[in-house]
Amino acid sequence: MRILVTGGTGQLGGAVVARLRAAEDDEVRVLSRRAGPDVVRGDLRTGRGIDSAVSGVDVVVHCATDFRHETAIARTLIEAARWAGGPHLLYVSIVGVDRVPLGYYRTKHETEQVLAASGLPVTILRATQFHALVRTLFAGASRLPVLPVPRFSFQPVDVRDVAERLADLALGDPAGRVDDFGGPEILSAAELAQAVAEASGRPRRIVPLSVPGEIFRAYAGGGHLAPDHRDGKITFARYLAELADPGVLRYRKR
Ligand SMILES: NC(=O)c1ccc[n+]([C@@H]2O[C@H](COP(=O)([O-])OP(=O)(O)OC[C@H]3O[C@@H](n4cnc5c(N)ncnc54)[C@H](OP(=O)(O)O)[C@@H]3O)[C@@H](O)[C@H]2O)c1
Repeated sequence: MRILVTGGTGQLGGAVVARLRAAEDDEVRVLSRRAGPDVVRGDLRTGRGIDSAVSGVDVVVHCATDFRHETAIARTLIEAARWAGGPHLLYVSIVGVDRVPLGYYRTKHETEQVLAASGLPVTILRATQFHALVRTLFAGASRLPVLPVPRFSFQPVDVRDVAERLADLALGDPAGRVDDFGGPEILSAAELAQAVAEASGRPRRIVPLSVPGEIFRAYAGGGHLAPDHRDGKITFARYLAELADPGVLRYRKR
């Protein structure tokens, strides 16, 4: 199979490329706006280089993302895919894009719908928050002795686990929207913040807070969680331990 990974230089896309290349059965192309080894250059915003990047591929794993132009870049990809004879398009979305009223989530949901209506063979996988995002949320302001955190939970997932699922989906038949993919544990923001503080050697007092507003309500109601899909195997604690040991964390990006 010939597989194009958009966003293959990013967090998740990098893990997908590593996973697919380890199997050595398939030809894996990486799309990037920048020149680099084993990279096909192209820009989904301008469309430059996209037709040739998509030409001849059987599957596109679409991990590229653009906060402000998420749907537009998907439309560019769809157009190129039509010209290229209709490869299988696999899109990565986020659990709760239709429940949490964030602008980025709305555009991800709209993109899911555009892909589903494209007439092309598609698969859509929604994942919960990646470990790195959750760590970044709670590593901020690390000099402060007190850290306010929202009074709700996360289900962090490791990009290597999501990449494994995506690689399986890429080698299978188009399946439309598939079951959500969540991390192995649901932990309160306070527990996660505590773990980040301990891993950084800066213990802090964690103060859970409720915040008014519909976004907070949606998170507090678990709109971003997939309790029935604790599919990932790599826990947040293991991720943090690996971060502290650079010898182990070979998948870490730039
Ligand atoms: N972070 C999370 O917690 C989370 C959770 C669930 C789902 N997701 C979804 O997972 C996907 C991957 O997220 P990520 O955090 O791995 O992303 P990331 O690390 O920020 O990587 C973004 C990628 O998009 C590419 N890109 C951006 N604009 C582009 C353009 N105009 N043309 C071509 N490529 C472009 C970049 O490639 P170059 O810079 O090399 O061009 C880069 O490789 C996203 O769809 C995201 O919504 C994320």
